[in-house]
Amino acid sequence: MSEPRQSVRANPFATVAREPGSPKPDPIIVADNVTRSFGGIRAVDVAHVEFQRGCITGLIGPNGAGKTTLFNLLTGFDRADSGTWTIDGSKISHMPAYKVARSGVVRTFQLTKALSKLTVLDNVRLGATGQTGERMAGALMPWTWRRQEADITERAHAMLTRFKLDDKANDFAGSLSGGQRKLLEMARALMVEPTVIMLDEPMAGVNPALTQSLLGHIKSLREEGMTVVFVEHDMDVIRDVSDWVVVMAQGSVIAEGPASELSSNSAVVDAYLGSHHDKPLEFDEHGNPVGETAEMVAEMESEIQDVLESGGDLSENPPATSDRDSEEPQ
Ligand SMILES: Nc1ncnc2c1ncn2[C@@H]1O[C@H](COP(=O)(O)OP(=O)(O)OP(=O)(O)O)[C@@H](O)[C@H]1O
Ligand SMILES: [Mg+2]
Repeated sequence: MSEPRQSVRANPFATVAREPGSPKPDPIIVADNVTRSFGGIRAVDVAHVEFQRGCITGLIGPNGAGKTTLFNLLTGFDRADSGTWTIDGSKISHMPAYKVARSGVVRTFQLTKALSKLTVLDNVRLGATGQTGERMAGALMPWTWRRQEADITERAHAMLTRFKLDDKANDFAGSLSGGQRKLLEMARALMVEPTVIMLDEPMAGVNPALTQSLLGHIKSLREEGMTVVFVEHDMDVIRDVSDWVVVMAQGSVIAEGPASELSSNSAVVDAYLGSHHDKPLEFDEHGNPVGETAEMVAEMESEIQDVLESGGDLSENPPATSDRDSEEPQ
């Protein structure tokens, strides 16, 4: 049974082509010919990509695919070699990060950047700065600046309450757990009241209890009308929250579609597993494997036999699944 809310809400992606760079009915971010090389490596080479307004787009791809670099470029934290990108039709390409943020696009970092020697409250308050014009006016008219400061502090407290960090307001950010830092980063990013928020692996290094709460926060951003683009390796999480998924490999967008359709996309399977695993399995009418499937089964059986004969334990070799659990806390 599908979620009732999903089926009631009109699906803006119903007619969107399941292909890289597909046009969206109401794109808020549109990027063209974005490239960035490091030495000989083309880290990003995206011909065209659009992100639909008010939706959660999952950005996935194997390690080194260029996801973080693309975020860095779009949000002004790194210089693109070429490309143009816009928010709501206004060009924000090649702008410094603070100007991009002022235009409504903010991001969080894969490795959290909380300033550990500042308090949790000050970290959040910093999210609201970058308003140089107002600060200049403040220097000339200190009473307006002071009022603005009080306003920022009040909003920061409200944000901490929202993320259940209010009792930590006066602790150093360095004393927070990995998960709490992720929440702090989100709180800080939201202080500019963004229209687009880009989250780079918000769940990495977060314990399962906090994961659920982070997921809830991400969904509520969408409820509030924000556009969310988020990088995540866990496909269960992607399936749970994404309205649409963009897949990158070797710097480029190689596939797009709803999460449920991607596991049958051979370009995606290729990117993750290498080109040997994309052949459909073949069976005869009795259910016996035939052709290459039969060869693969024979190979697996002989490997299992080898393990048993050498006195090994098959449970010592669990199938390679997600390695996220073993990731170091940050
Ligand atoms: N500052 C840098 N200097 C040199 N090479 C870099 C730099 N940043 C990224 N790269 C390279 O660019 C490519 C893309 O890296 P990027 O971090 O964007 O990948 P990613 O998709 O975010 O990977 P992950 O899932 O592991 O976070 C990789 O080959 C990486 O080694
Ligand atoms: Mg990354």
